[in-house]
Amino acid sequence: MKESNIILDIIKRRRSVRHFNSTSIPLEAMEQILEAGRWAPSGANAQPWRFIVVTRKKTLAAIAESCFYKIFKSRNVGEAGSVVVICADPDAGSQTYPLDAAIAGTNMTLMATSLGIGSCWIGAFEEQILKNMLHIPEKLKIIALIAFGYEIGKASIPPRLPLSSIIHYETYDAGNEPDIITKKKSSGPFSVFGKLLRVLFNKR
Ligand SMILES: Cc1cc2nc3c(=O)[nH]c(=O)nc-3n(C[C@H](O)[C@H](O)[C@H](O)COP(=O)(O)O)c2cc1C
Repeated sequence: MKESNIILDIIKRRRSVRHFNSTSIPLEAMEQILEAGRWAPSGANAQPWRFIVVTRKKTLAAIAESCFYKIFKSRNVGEAGSVVVICADPDAGSQTYPLDAAIAGTNMTLMATSLGIGSCWIGAFEEQILKNMLHIPEKLKIIALIAFGYEIGKASIPPRLPLSSIIHYETYDAGNEPDIITKKKSSGPFSVFGKLLRVLFNKR
């Protein structure tokens, strides 16, 4: 994977940002972020997501009180320019509503990155308190909150497991080299000789 690729660059550039300055996010940028969420795939195209965009500082501060990072309150939620509360409707026609909503959220974080806006996925929150605070219908499930804003400093890059430790080609217990690599290795003049030998001795 030597050549640069715009999508992969954005995916790799996205970080969980935990320090925002207090600058608001322009409406146009927020609309693009939401548009990226709207175009996510979903089971049976049910589009079960519902997004609540919170920008009022007072509400953001109150939401921050109900979100946690490890044992601490999520300060970045209070500092964010906007927080999108991602809800999903279990009755919208997709059994995969939590996944659908999570994919929409991922699209949004990547769109934000492409616009130079930081984001942080918030998975630890007090659902009932948020439902009451934001008047969210009881039947909806809050899947996540995403804080958006302009980053102070630069978040460090948490490491990722190497591909070789997470990929299994064809079956779980097989080696982790795809056929295509094996094939590539056997091209060139020596492989022609090898093929000839295999044909002579009737081996594949
Ligand atoms: C489902 C989910 C829940 C998360 N919950 C929180 C959270 O509550 N607070 C937080 O600060 N980060 C949260 N994160 C961010 C992760 O800690 C972060 O993605 C991970 O450490 C990798 O760092 P990176 O996003 O910068 O690559 C969450 C991420 C996911 C996908």
